[in-house]
Amino acid sequence: MFGRAAPLEIEVGSGKGLFLSAAAATQPDRNFLGVEIAAKYARYAAARLAKRELANAILLNADAQRLFRELLPAECLAAVHVYFPDPWWKARHKKRRVMNESFARDVEHTLLPGGSLHFWTDVEEYFTTTLELLAAVTHLTGPLPVAEQPAQHDLDYLTHFERRMRLHGEAVYRAEFRKV
Ligand SMILES: C[S@@+](CC[C@H](N)C(=O)[O-])C[C@H]1O[C@@H](n2cnc3c(N)ncnc32)[C@H](O)[C@@H]1O
Repeated sequence: MFGRAAPLEIEVGSGKGLFLSAAAATQPDRNFLGVEIAAKYARYAAARLAKRELANAILLNADAQRLFRELLPAECLAAVHVYFPDPWWKARHKKRRVMNESFARDVEHTLLPGGSLHFWTDVEEYFTTTLELLAAVTHLTGPLPVAEQPAQHDLDYLTHFERRMRLHGEAVYRAEFRKV
């Protein structure tokens, strides 16, 4: 897809594509695939990449769960990024969460040795549940702490949701895991 061999990183649920475009621009030696299930946001993020002529980033309008489960081979990814996934607050909806048992296993399966999983959320309960889930069903090392960086300008945030939460003074929970 990228026309070259380079370490591949996938972002699950790219939203408006702030992370994808900034990461692709600052790390030209890596390939970035954003997967976004909502067509409206997928188009928005793809347009952002096209505008900046970023040849090392591709936006896929698809269900990331299916991509991981059905298409990705073992040990093909240098990193997986999951930022502010939909919280699905109601108890009966929690099974719709992206960070579930089968996805956790798929992430471990598709990461290269030394590869990393980055998970950020503003929902403390989703954060602790996910940390417990990863400890229970994977051998990933973590959570490694991730420090908050002061923003230098209006778009100096990892994603739009991080920007929204921090500008509203809301907590952001961040963790990194590694496959050893
Ligand atoms: C709360 S938004 C966060 C967007 C972005 N990561 C951010 O931090 O600004 C969650 C995004 O994940 C997308 N999403 C939800 N389930 C998905 C799935 N199974 N595959 C791909 N994208 C998904 C939603 O459409 C939405 O754009």
